[in-house]
Amino acid sequence: MNNITTGYGAISDGKDTNANVDPTRILDNNTKILIIYFSRSGNTEKQAKLAQDVLNSDIFELTVSNPYPSNYKATVNRATNERDAKNWPELNSDIPNLDKYDTILLGHPIWAMTIANPMREFLEEYGTLLSNKSVASFSTNDGYGSGETNDVISRLTTGSTKLLTNYTIRDTMAKQDRTNFINWLKKINK
Ligand SMILES: Cc1cc2nc3c(=O)[nH]c(=O)nc-3n(C[C@H](O)[C@H](O)[C@H](O)COP(=O)(O)O)c2cc1C
Repeated sequence: MNNITTGYGAISDGKDTNANVDPTRILDNNTKILIIYFSRSGNTEKQAKLAQDVLNSDIFELTVSNPYPSNYKATVNRATNERDAKNWPELNSDIPNLDKYDTILLGHPIWAMTIANPMREFLEEYGTLLSNKSVASFSTNDGYGSGETNDVISRLTTGSTKLLTNYTIRDTMAKQDRTNFINWLKKINK
């Protein structure tokens, strides 16, 4: 089991990144930027932690009450059923007070060409709290881009949310793409 505890990509234990560790929470940096992310198998988590390091921001990992199964196909089936029924997964994270932040970065995988279900649930519940803030998505995908991510964020926030250009990374290219991602983060931080 040792080599799968980080839950990375194809060798993921798949339960979610918290099968063996506590969710990531840093909420006491002196910062106006908060990263909120969900990651099932670790790819997005790596990007989120890099982003936190570059920006010295706060960071908050979303978790779900019923973690996704270790089997990829079973996860796809569950995710499809949830999406078809618009029965998004229950979050078991107490969302921090967002008042002190002016920029929120949303990190998530792409599922079925859209924002992964737990982040969708976050936006359904809290999207209107992102009013008067800059919001940007960064995502990881398996080669098909970020799909309708920005449309979804736009629909579930208000007119006063400033939606920035998003960033998506093919999961297998994350290492090679590191510099580009960091450059994107620095632009967000201007
Ligand atoms: C349920 C599910 C659906 C997915 N759908 C897509 C998709 O439509 N397009 C794509 O490029 N990748 C898709 N993927 C691949 C993931 O987006 C990709 O592997 C991502 O890096 C996983 O991030 P994570 O390790 O942070 O969970 C899907 C993965 C899962 C589990």
